[in-house]
Amino acid sequence: MTELNAANAGTYKFDDDFVVNRLGYGTMQLTGPGVFGPFPDKQKAIDVIKEAPKLGINLIDTADSYGPWFADRYLGEALREMPDKGHSIHISEKVGQLRHGPGIWIPFGDPKYLRQEVESSLLTLGRDHEELLFLHRWDTNVPLSEQLGVLQKMKEEGKIKHIGVSQFSVDDLKAAQKYADIDAVENLYNVGNHKDDDVVDYAEKHHMAFLPWFPLDTGKLAGANSPLDKIAKKYNASSAQIALAWLLKRSPNILPIPGTSNVDHLKDNVAAANVKLSDDDFKTLSNLQK
Ligand SMILES: NC(=O)c1ccc[n+]([C@@H]2O[C@H](COP(=O)([O-])OP(=O)(O)OC[C@H]3O[C@@H](n4cnc5c(N)ncnc54)[C@H](OP(=O)(O)O)[C@@H]3O)[C@@H](O)[C@H]2O)c1
Repeated sequence: MTELNAANAGTYKFDDDFVVNRLGYGTMQLTGPGVFGPFPDKQKAIDVIKEAPKLGINLIDTADSYGPWFADRYLGEALREMPDKGHSIHISEKVGQLRHGPGIWIPFGDPKYLRQEVESSLLTLGRDHEELLFLHRWDTNVPLSEQLGVLQKMKEEGKIKHIGVSQFSVDDLKAAQKYADIDAVENLYNVGNHKDDDVVDYAEKHHMAFLPWFPLDTGKLAGANSPLDKIAKKYNASSAQIALAWLLKRSPNILPIPGTSNVDHLKDNVAAANVKLSDDDFKTLSNLQK
């Protein structure tokens, strides 16, 4: 049997100290409904995170707005409980959202608030710098120069190593690059919705990582009635694995971060690293988008 290891997906290098296996994990499922409040079973949340490094996952995507704070707290606890105290885990953190209730997300880019979020996230995670820090959303009420300016300043201070932006078009990215070194972009992207193909191509050309959010379309690509069922049978794989294998083949800069609160699903997703799609099947899947 092929080994279950995220390393089988290959690696992506941000810098010499920051090399990740291309199949990561996202913490957004580890909260209450509407990504608000605590996850009902705290130990289960911590256990899922602790399982990740055992499967070779060394990139975990999170945000202080998940809960808010609950997902980051579980992550901080899980890191402290790992045999190596989580030193092998690279974290991508996101700042720039207010949360006033379930399902409510308000972009907020006041530079003073962004700085506070970075500082409090570092305390929660037990780290002295952010390896990858995303501006979660562009707050159109605040000049982009100020939002990215404070992150660039924190990079110069050594608090942030790499800066990313989330939900940015190619034109937005070009604007962002005037104010900060942009090393990553995190946009909605999956086999059923790849309208941001141009952003993926731009990222690949400009050596930026592309972290696709909703890689499983919130589970619709993974469940029993997935449109990927037929092709999954051909590869003796699950539908989730096909969705992730498509992302891995699409560009070497893509780092999928599927979210789950379930250890079995985590293992299922990691096994996608062993699924190598043929060029023909990749093309057929690419045409699924409506
Ligand atoms: N930058 C942004 O604005 C942004 C926005 C959204 C998300 N994100 C990031 O992207 C990550 C991924 O997005 P997401 O978690 O919302 O959605 P997703 O990864 O597309 O799908 C997660 C859903 O799929 C289910 N699932 C996962 N693996 C499965 C499997 N093998 N078989 C069957 N069902 C499975 C999960 O349920 P179970 O818990 O039952 O497994 C959950 O309901 C987030 O965790 C977060 O880190 C970023």
